[in-house]
Amino acid sequence: MKSSDSEFIKDFFENCLAIDLGEGAKLRLKSLFNKLRKDNRVITIQDFGAGSKKLGNERKISTILKTSSSKGKYGKLLYQMVKHYQFKNCLEFGTSLGVGTNYLALGNSYANITTIEACESTRNIALENFASFNNVKSEHSTFDEFLSSRASASKSSARENDDAYDFVFIDGHHDGDALINYLEKLKPLTNANTIYVLDDIRWSDSMLKAWDKIVKSGEFEVIDLFRVGVVKMRD
Ligand SMILES: C[S@@+](CC[C@H](N)C(=O)[O-])C[C@H]1O[C@@H](n2cnc3c(N)ncnc32)[C@H](O)[C@@H]1O
Repeated sequence: MKSSDSEFIKDFFENCLAIDLGEGAKLRLKSLFNKLRKDNRVITIQDFGAGSKKLGNERKISTILKTSSSKGKYGKLLYQMVKHYQFKNCLEFGTSLGVGTNYLALGNSYANITTIEACESTRNIALENFASFNNVKSEHSTFDEFLSSRASASKSSARENDDAYDFVFIDGHHDGDALINYLEKLKPLTNANTIYVLDDIRWSDSMLKAWDKIVKSGEFEVIDLFRVGVVKMRD
């Protein structure tokens, strides 16, 4: 920590990251992971993002768990954030099997969580993993379709009402230009206090370039956790 660090950054490291998973959450996650680790069903993936570096389109559920899900400290980070900041409306771009969504839903049962997934076969598996939550809404859509539908649905900006997303997790379509574009289009749907988690900021040159641009823009307070970036609009 440097003396120039803001209250937001100080609080994030000192308080948010100090939160532990509750016993109930640990049990629920353990059972989710046990189930998915043993799941040998193979599904055909339709790719709407930047593709996988190593996998073909026929994928075992247990392999998707290993390669494309928020686990360990990254899953815990989502739980810590949703619990610490008590977000009202969370948006996740990229549901996959719904592992990250589970961490969010377990962190705060009062948060409304909307999660977007374009690949139907993947989303169908995620739906199995949301059965016990009533605060998760899964949408079958590309990120662009979702943004366009929201833009045309709301005449007044979400910033002016209670619908604004105060937490956004962008975890799909790992392309730098797309990321910048999503951040721009999300502006009318978010508010001044929205916190974004951007995954895989070092996944490719284009993602790193986009991360650099975000940092240098001066628009955001930024926390670089190496794999993920956490950003919040400057006051
Ligand atoms: C890394 S996985 C998400 C992992 C999940 N957020 C978690 O924390 O467990 C990325 C997902 O984003 C989806 N995706 C990629 N590009 C997309 C797009 N343009 N629109 C909608 N979904 C997309 C993929 O199908 C994939 O399931």
